[in-house]
Order: sequence, then C-alpha cells, then structure tokens
Amino acid sequence: MVNVNGRIVDREHAVISVFDHGFLYGEGVYETLRTYNGEPFLFDRHMRRLRASASMLSLDVPLTDQEIDRRFRDTMRAAELGSGGREAYLRILVTRGVGELTYDPAACAEPSIVIIVKEHVAPPAEAFEQGITVALVGIVRNHPGSVNPIIKSNNLLNNALAAQEAVKRGAFEGVMRNYRGELAECTTSNIFIVKDGAALTPPLDAGLLAGLTREFVFEVGQQCGVTVREQVLRDADLFGADEAFLTSTTRELVPIVRVDDRTIGSGRPGPVTAKLLQAFREHAKALTSPRASVS
Ligand code: PDD
Repeated sequence: MVNVNGRIVDREHAVISVFDHGFLYGEGVYETLRTYNGEPFLFDRHMRRLRASASMLSLDVPLTDQEIDRRFRDTMRAAELGSGGREAYLRILVTRGVGELTYDPAACAEPSIVIIVKEHVAPPAEAFEQGITVALVGIVRNHPGSVNPIIKSNNLLNNALAAQEAVKRGAFEGVMRNYRGELAECTTSNIFIVKDGAALTPPLDAGLLAGLTREFVFEVGQQCGVTVREQVLRDADLFGADEAFLTSTTRELVPIVRVDDRTIGSGRPGPVTAKLLQAFREHAKALTSPRASVS
C-alpha cells in the first residue's frame, strides 16, 4: 500500500505529477526503514537523518515525527503488515513538489510526501550461510563537493550506474571507491572488513552515507566485545581481509566471501561477522520488544 500526501491507496493508484521536481530533477530525499516486532526500528534516528538530508537541499519536511509515525502505522494497518509476525518494509520519500520547469525552489508550493509499505523480504538464508560475492566497480562514488553521499537523496544515478556494473558481473553488490581511490561504500549498503579480530569501515569523510546499521554495529560491537572502528581502506585491505561484510537496514549484516574472482579469508563467513550479526539481531529485537522504548 502507498500513502500519497496522506491518502492511502493501492499500488495501481499511487501516482504523482510528472511536474513534481522529484520526478523532473531527482530533487528529494528518502529513508528506508523496516520493522522488528512490528515496530519501525531506529525510527528517531531515521527521522533525524531524513531532516538532515532535507536541510542539505533546503527542503522542508512539513510533518512532525509523530505525524510521520501515524502515517506509517495507518499505511501498515491498511497493508496488514507489522502484526502477526509479518514485518514491514517502509520507504518514505519527500520531494520538492509540483512546480514550473525551473530549478528555483520557490516554484514549488509544497513538498510531496510518499510512503511505500510492503512486506519486508530478507536476503535468502544462503546469503547469510554461504556469504555473497561483490564486484569492485569502476564507477566512482560522488565527490562530497558535488552531490554529497551523506545526503540520502532520490538522486540515485551514481548508485544505479554502479549497481548495473555489479549486476552485469553477476555480483550481489557493487563496492565503490571514492575520488581518492579509497573504498567508500556499496551501492545500497556500507562495507566493513575484519582484520585481526577488529571490524573496520571507511570513515565518513571518505564520502559515504552514514548508515544507521553501520552506526548500530559500533554499539553492538561494544556490547559483545568486538572492536569496531573507522579506518581508511584500500583495495589491498579488502583483498587481504580475514572477513568482510556489508550492512543495511533491509539486509542487516551479510558476509562477503568473494570480490570478483578473489576469495576473502577462508571463503566462508567468519566468526567475527557471525558474532556481530547475532548480537545485532538480539539488540534489534530487544529494542523493539513491547516493553522497550526505541531511540
Ligand atoms: N540503503 N549506503 C547507501 C548508498 C545506501 O543506500 C544505504 C541504505 C546504506 C545503508 O544505510 P542504512 O544502514 O541506514 O540502511 C549505505 C537503503 C536500505 C535503501 O536504499 O533502500
């Protein structure tokens, strides 16, 4: 089900004007959330990031967090998701809105707000059990001085081009380098390697999205005794890693066992990744249990 500016409709009736600057120019921001125990996970953090992204486009989010929460719940109810063990995928998009054919934001009276709700589908069990292959793609992650990757924007051509390259090579994900040639992130996820027991991920100033799963892994690491820290990473660090994994809201932590035709570590998901994944799931479920308050 889809909520278009407050109206809940099925997917056939979920339409938006071709004069919306989100469609015309990719001018908009989004967040992808999922539920655990029927509760939108890390809701407050997603709302903070949504507003931070929007402010970097001088875009207003004209609803309070409570109003967005209500729209999520109303739309989930209409989709019969978020209860009875059926977890939901939630995507909220805020675009510049409808206006004349000009980049002047003053041309658009009000932003459009769309919420897409569908069933959460986790990666197949074999991705977690056997690990996945990624491709190290040639498309370079946007320069932070251009379209800054810290903005979770609907302007996704950089990611889509990189993903096309990964798909052509039969990979599950594509890893992008930044303009300096360092590893940045994947097309829809962040990347970690494990070396000598520590989980390492590129720093934010490498030019990447500040993933909330990435952030949560730092907290989970502290709780389960795994060192997690930022470090500049290059191709050789990935090729020589003991383990590697990617993180995202919809995929949690997925072990990476191959990069193109190179094997990572033992070629099997490793113990540090497994420990972090287990702790991640335990914490996600505990935070969304009926008695917990989610922050
Ligand atoms: N993708 N990097 C990029 C480029 C992303 O698009 C995403 C999220 C992430 C991981 O962020 P988080 O842990 O907050 O989900 C990193 C979402 C899932 C999407 O595109 O739907």
